[in-house]
Amino acid sequence: MSSTVRSAGLASIASYLPERVLTNYDLEKIVDTSDEWIRTRTGIAERRIVDPQQCTSDIAVPAAVEALERAQVAAEEVDLIIVATVTGDYVFPATASLVQDRLGASRAGAFDLQAGCTGFIYAIATACQFVSSGAMDTVLVVGAECLSRLTDWSDRKTCVLFGDGAGAAVIRPVEEGQGLLAFDLGSDGAGGSLLQVEAGGSKSPACLDTIENNKHFISMNGNEVFRFAVKVIGESAERAMAKCGLTSAEVACFIPHQANMRVIDSAAKRLGVPMEKVIVNVDRYGNTSSASIPIAFDEAVTDGRIKRGDIVVCVGFGAGLTWGSCVLRW
Ligand code: UT7
Repeated sequence: MSSTVRSAGLASIASYLPERVLTNYDLEKIVDTSDEWIRTRTGIAERRIVDPQQCTSDIAVPAAVEALERAQVAAEEVDLIIVATVTGDYVFPATASLVQDRLGASRAGAFDLQAGCTGFIYAIATACQFVSSGAMDTVLVVGAECLSRLTDWSDRKTCVLFGDGAGAAVIRPVEEGQGLLAFDLGSDGAGGSLLQVEAGGSKSPACLDTIENNKHFISMNGNEVFRFAVKVIGESAERAMAKCGLTSAEVACFIPHQANMRVIDSAAKRLGVPMEKVIVNVDRYGNTSSASIPIAFDEAVTDGRIKRGDIVVCVGFGAGLTWGSCVLRW
């Protein structure tokens, strides 16, 4: 282990989406909603849902395998695995340990990181510290969610919003001036009850009452979260860019958390970023929480919108409440 401070960044990015598509028209048959309402209020047309036998580690693993292959890293070379998720397979053990076993990453430490939909940003910032310090050479970061398992399919206010998916990145040392240039992380726990799963933890363990009252499902005050999101996305991205002396004009690509097209539009306006620079896929996948940023990142790299050397700003917000941004040179 060296004590040097060095640059760290993404050696690869990859994603995995379940095959099953649930459209707005499918939802019209389940709750009192319409394709028109969902599209106008959220921008979502469809989302992916896992099969009944699949869980979060099942979709995390293929994303991780692809990320390792793209970085040309063997599983045995991985020093640490961080899985950002709010929908781990179990309360414990950590999903990261299950992924570690399935990958055969025999040398790796493993832990889950929970920061709501900002999880992937927190995980990238954390992973880069291990690599920058010289403590580790290779960290695998995964954002993976099966939100369909925490969705109350009788609540039209939430069930139209979420989807399942996974993304992964390999973090390694990079040349100076490349990789993670700056980040901003924040939290306002006073807003915790605005977006939560109330039961199943130590405060409200599972019992008949929690089950009868649907407390194991996501509940959200959408209007409040919306207002919070529009404010923090702009502020956080601006803080992160200021830390490395960059302005929006120098950024090739913005990747916001994909929760709602109206939130994305407002944030882009506030930052003065033209929509051609903003990666959007909320129409096809809905809100996949910790997975939304790496899925969008992977799509944009794969279709050539992000090229090596480009400055990319990722910005997220979510349960906690939390927010975070990172500025990267890809
Ligand atoms: O990653 C975590 C982040 N979460 C978010 O980013 C969520 C942020 N918030 C939002 O995206 C929006 O607030 C929602 C999409 C959740 C809601 O949109 P809204 O424009 O704020 O609608 P609203 O909650 O004010 O509801 C307006 C109306 C209500 O009816 P009334 O009371 O005006 O008669 C709702 O009952 O729309 C009704 N409504 C629906 N109607 C048809 C709510 N959900 C639906 C639905 N279909 N699915």
